[in-house]
Amino acid sequence: MTTTTTSQIHEADVLIIGAGGAGLRAAIEAAAQGARVAVICKSLLGKAHTIVAEGGIAAAVGSVDPRDNWKVHFHDTMQGGKFVNNWRMAQLHAQESPEEIRNLELWGALFDRTEKGGVMQRLFGGHTYKRLVHVGDRTGLELIRTLQDKAVAERIQVFMETTITKLLKHDGKICGAAGYVRETGRFIVFKAPAVVIAAGGSGRIYSVTSNSWEGTADGQALAFRAGAELMDMEFIQFHPTGMVWPHSVRGILVTESVRGEGGHLTNSLGERFMERYDKERMELSTRDVVARAIYTEVKEGRGSPHGGAYLSIAHLPADFVKRKLPSMHEQFLAFAKVDITKEPMEVYPTTHYHMGGIRVDGDSTATNVPGLFAAGESAAGLHGANRLGGNSLSDLLVFGARAGRYAAQYALGAEHITPSAEEIALAEHEAQAPFEATGENPFALQEEMQNMMMSEVGVYRVEEKLKNALNQIRDLQERAANVRATGSVMYNPVWHTALDVKNMALIAETIAQSAHLRTESRGAHSRVDFPNYDANLQKGNMVARYDGQNVTVAFVEQPPMPQELHDLTYNKPEVAAAA
Ligand code: FUM
Repeated sequence: MTTTTTSQIHEADVLIIGAGGAGLRAAIEAAAQGARVAVICKSLLGKAHTIVAEGGIAAAVGSVDPRDNWKVHFHDTMQGGKFVNNWRMAQLHAQESPEEIRNLELWGALFDRTEKGGVMQRLFGGHTYKRLVHVGDRTGLELIRTLQDKAVAERIQVFMETTITKLLKHDGKICGAAGYVRETGRFIVFKAPAVVIAAGGSGRIYSVTSNSWEGTADGQALAFRAGAELMDMEFIQFHPTGMVWPHSVRGILVTESVRGEGGHLTNSLGERFMERYDKERMELSTRDVVARAIYTEVKEGRGSPHGGAYLSIAHLPADFVKRKLPSMHEQFLAFAKVDITKEPMEVYPTTHYHMGGIRVDGDSTATNVPGLFAAGESAAGLHGANRLGGNSLSDLLVFGARAGRYAAQYALGAEHITPSAEEIALAEHEAQAPFEATGENPFALQEEMQNMMMSEVGVYRVEEKLKNALNQIRDLQERAANVRATGSVMYNPVWHTALDVKNMALIAETIAQSAHLRTESRGAHSRVDFPNYDANLQKGNMVARYDGQNVTVAFVEQPPMPQELHDLTYNKPEVAAAA
């Protein structure tokens, strides 16, 4: 083992953990408030799960369909989330996302245009009107490029290839964070009264996922260990269309834009099977419905040769397909030798997004831990039981900005406490623990957990499997506590994974416990043994708490909606649009 040394304590007013869309947007806003900002990036700047939201940013700018407005967007989001969304977040999101599109354009984003020169918008499942502002199928990339350029222009400090392992507190309040630099293994400490968690989701807890290696639930786990509550953890989004073949690229996203631009789903009998599941909306039904439909077709023996469904856009002109879906065209040619202008793709659900996450105040994004804020996929609330496509990019802009603003305001009025030497030493000792451990290799354990979660807490859930999952998770947690790292601290993926699996096993328990407790089917959470809605469970959310030893989950009711929002939620969009 090589020991690390803490050479320096870095100082900031606002420390932002995560450099995807939410983190960068928070950083820009916090800096605009006059705060000194530091951003932690686990990977290289510009590489974030945000780029996997390919198809667009949902915002009711009404450029393509002037009937659209925030009320219809609010209605669609609440309907899509099956009514358990944090309604205040859904309201703010719908109201503020058009302004965020204007900000992006001011900062240099180049979106596709209509003939009149407005931003082009496309349809996605569950949206009443063409609403997704986009750049071909590379929207997330353009969003990150724009925010990154703006953050660099504002001279915001970024610590790349750095992983935070612990939030530091004093008298119950945040005072900083500690972690390691991946390249050197050097331990690193930050002093900051406000921390924003914007570290993305937990997709890597599952074996088939669109998330790349960073999506290991770090943000949720950091907050949970620091005393924050997690909410809606049972709601995992299985995006209906991931690649299935070749095996090496299984799970990579096939954007919903393929269906948004007119793609058809068929089974091995050539049937457009969505007729059986949602005759009205067909391929543009919500993601939970389409994912279950594909799952069912395959399970009942009507799948494609590699165990998926066919998704075809080949009936549309080749130049249109190449213009609207350039990345999909390249991706399928490069990986599967399939020309999507001529042949169908094979697709199957892939773990894509966690609707659950850190419980926050809808206005300020503050958690129950003073000084701790959260935004983007790390946070919960906006999407309820099922997120509409495109709502993640607008979520991270609206609530990234809010997190940056409120965290800066908090920090500028807060006392800056230096983390104690004991706290720092403890954090370093915990991070180094795998080098002293005698247990198994973390990679095998991680794979076992991913396969188990896919099979026991996947698209469909049932009592027996959930109980089995909980037993297995507890066993995995015990083993994860003792996984072993060998070699140097420099660029050591075994060590990094040894730390990751502890977080993943903790968060897996919150998912399985919440899924077990939600004895109904709602949105992305489908219980074979409880196939219907339970009206009582519509009143609130599952909230997970951790005392350092045990995870507990309890149902917590939401405050009642104001009458205006209640009416907008349940009225038809056309009525809402006219209001
Ligand atoms: O299918 C997609 O392009 C993904 C978008 C999203 O998750 O919002």
